Formats: sequence, C-alpha cells, structure tokens
Amino acid sequence: MVFDSKFENGRVVTPDGVQTDVSIGVSDGTIAAVGEPAELGSADRVIDLDGQYLLPGVIDCHVHVREPGYEHKEDWSTATAAAAAGGVTTLIAMPNTDPMIDSPETIEQVFEIADGSAHVDFQSYAVLTSDNYDQVEPLAEAGVAGFKVFLGTTFGEIEPPDDGELYAAMQDAAAAKRRIGFHEENDEILKHFEAKFKAEGHNDPIAHSHSRPVVAEAEAVSRIMLLADHAECPVHMFHLSSGTGAELVVRGKEDGVNVTAETCPHYLWFTEEVMNEKGNVARVQPPIRNADERERLWETGIYGGGVDCIATDHAPHTDEEKNIGDPFDDTWKSISGFVGLESEVGAMATFASEGRISLEQWAYMHSTRPAQIWGLYPQKGSLQVGTDADFTIVDPDTEWVAKKEDLRSKSKTTPFNDEEFVGKPTMTVVRGAVTYEDGEIQVEEGFGEVVLAGDTTSNAKPRGGPGN
Ligand code: DOR
Ligand code: ZN
Repeated sequence: MVFDSKFENGRVVTPDGVQTDVSIGVSDGTIAAVGEPAELGSADRVIDLDGQYLLPGVIDCHVHVREPGYEHKEDWSTATAAAAAGGVTTLIAMPNTDPMIDSPETIEQVFEIADGSAHVDFQSYAVLTSDNYDQVEPLAEAGVAGFKVFLGTTFGEIEPPDDGELYAAMQDAAAAKRRIGFHEENDEILKHFEAKFKAEGHNDPIAHSHSRPVVAEAEAVSRIMLLADHAECPVHMFHLSSGTGAELVVRGKEDGVNVTAETCPHYLWFTEEVMNEKGNVARVQPPIRNADERERLWETGIYGGGVDCIATDHAPHTDEEKNIGDPFDDTWKSISGFVGLESEVGAMATFASEGRISLEQWAYMHSTRPAQIWGLYPQKGSLQVGTDADFTIVDPDTEWVAKKEDLRSKSKTTPFNDEEFVGKPTMTVVRGAVTYEDGEIQVEEGFGEVVLAGDTTSNAKPRGGPGN
C-alpha cells in the first residue's frame, strides 16, 4: 500500500512510552499503520522528523473563541490559526459569547461559523443557567461536548442556575452521559472582597488576586463534588489554580466522585509575584497563586493525580479593555484573561526538558485525557490505527523567547511574552493534512471540522509522577 504520507525518524510519544523505532503511515486522513520503518511501505510524501517529538494532536479544551459577538477580541479564523501555529489540533470553545451558546439554535450557529472558518478541528460547550437548566438532553443531542456553569461571575456576567436547578441539571447530565464543567469560584466571597478592596483603595494589580482567595475555589470545588456525588453526575473543574483545590479533587476521586480537573500552564509557571512584575497583563480569574499553592499544585495536582489535563483558558481582550497602556494602573479598570494557544506547547515542552513532567504524562494530559473527558476519544487523543491522523510535532532542542508580535491571535497580551522556552511546535497535522509548517498556516479557513462527541463520563484514573 502506498500511503498519502509517512512520518519517520521521530520520537513518538504516547502515554505508554516513547518510541524511536516506529514510522506512521497516513491515508485518507486517518492513521493507516504504525510500525517498523523497514516494513511500512512507501508514501507520496515522506516527512523526516529528524528526532523531533510526535505527540497525538494536542487538544485545548478551554478556549474563549469570542465569536459570535466579540469579534473585535478574536474570531474563529484567528483563534484556530493561533491553535495551528501553537501545535493544537482540536479546541473546545467556551460559551460566553453574544449570544451565549445556550440553545440548539445557538449551538448550530456556532458550529456553522466554525465550519466555515476554522483551521483546526473543534467542539463547543453549552452554558447552563436558570433559563435552560432543564434543557440538558436537547442540548446534548444538538451535539455539544459538555456543559459549562459559571459559579464565579466573569466576562459575560453569566449567572449560574440556583442549587436546586443545578442539582436537577446534574441528574439530567448523568442520564445523558454528559459532563458539566465549572468556573469554580464562590461568587459571594469574590464580591465581598472586591467591594472591600475598592472601598479601601487597594488598586494595585495584586489586589485583584487577593480579592479572589483560595478559599473561594476550595468552597466551590467542595460544593460541586457534594452535589455531583449525590446526582452521580460527572463533573469537571476548569482552570484549577491551587494546590488546595487539587487536594480536594484527589479526596473527591478517592471518595468515588466522577470528577476531573484541568489546570493551565500559567498556574504551573508563574506565582502571584507576576502581578508585581507584569501587572494587569497577568490579571486572570481565578488568579495566579502564591509559591506554596503552586508547589502543591505540582505535587498533588500533577504528580498526585488531582489534575487530569492541561488547557489554556485562552481569553483574548484588547489592550484597551485590559488597560495595559500602564499595566500597573488601577486593577479595577482592567479585565481578566489573556491568550495562551501559542505558548502552551512551548511551556509544557519546557517543563518536559527540565524533567518536571515526563513526555508520557505530557501526552496524556494534553491530548489523551482531555479527549477522554469530553467524549472525543479515541478519534482524537490517540495514535491508534483507524483514528484521525492528528499530530503535534515539537522540536525539543529549539530555545526560543515568546514574543507578542509573533502571535496570530488578535490579542497579543500574555504574561508569557518574553518568557524563555525550550521546545517549539514546528508542524501541526490535522486529519493527515499539514495545517502549520515553516512558520505558516498551510490550510484554508474552513478546513476544520466539528468532532462528534460521545459518552463523556470516562473516569479512568489519571496518572501521576514525573516518571510515569
Ligand atoms: O480571566 C478569565 N477570563 N477567566 C474566565 O473564567 C473567563 C475569561 C474570559 O472570558 O475573559
Ligand atoms: Zn475560561
């Protein structure tokens, strides 16, 4: 058989190991063979990876694409171009758009927009509020990967359902085999301290961080897990920021709650000191925590199984909205969130180069596990024969400095600007097509396709430990 393409001489990374003695043959967009190079047969295009890593395509399950409604911040074309350039092959979009994604009609609308303009594959969440909490089944049938509830108010100011409505929605989600993910911050605690700090004139950037204390996350994690336990509903903690939160998730898993969690590169890379160094550029909610919380997030989250997956919370805003003409100006005039799609692979590759995370665990947390959590596995997140040929190719030796002017997102604001990375995404492959290579996007808008989502209740044990 002559393959469409063949990838050879790479270091093929999966959760099960790193192989240097295999080549991958691709035909019709899927993986046709994985085997010994000498036995694999020929191909129309042979891609010599020259020792680079080949990971199952990275999946970012937390991306604020902004379209429809906030196209001045980002749109499907720019977000997915950033994804391709960043080594991301599939993204899952957040529903705090305008209109918000909360009905079969708006789901259809967003899939239609994405279908016409995406450069990589995609999925979306639907939001649950008091107005649609009883629509879990039709929303699931409309094809979303899962649901989002905003417990802590953030951009879009979308209020959560009340506890009765939420519990009922959890029962319906359990029946529909869909997972509900949360912005897990206790809103009353946030509002109290924001008002207090404003009244007292605490306006420096770190005041924003301190107005959203760890207990706000801890309370929300605990309450969600209690409700989920009773409703037997699979739940997910988006953007877990603290060791305290990770410790609670571990306990929930031990108690049999079907809970999964993600953290973001910025919580693993920075401490809250970044607020004093880079100001409101790094303003995000939940905020970046102190060194002790970060350390315990590594220990209990990454090595102890409290965190399942890595995602960015890519949250573009304009520089005016973030008010970063002077990044140390009044934090209450700034908005939270920053872009991440083009730095996440570099950040994780850097952690791998430092031996802080094994290559196997990186592939698991950045590809396989998010695919399992959101019902995209094994079509996405694996290198099994017959599944989509999605690859993230990384040159592990390139040392580079992230520069905002290189970004493809409309927003250039990120605390990773000027940070030093070891390991760079060089080629991105989606369904066998090279979507990014030689610094250029290689596919047209509209190449990306929606990924059908199945059962999202998977609760396989996450793996932990730098060596596994
Ligand atoms: O900082 C944030 N920005 N946190 C969120 O949860 C939402 C996001 C946004 O949409 O801008
Ligand atoms: Zn978010």
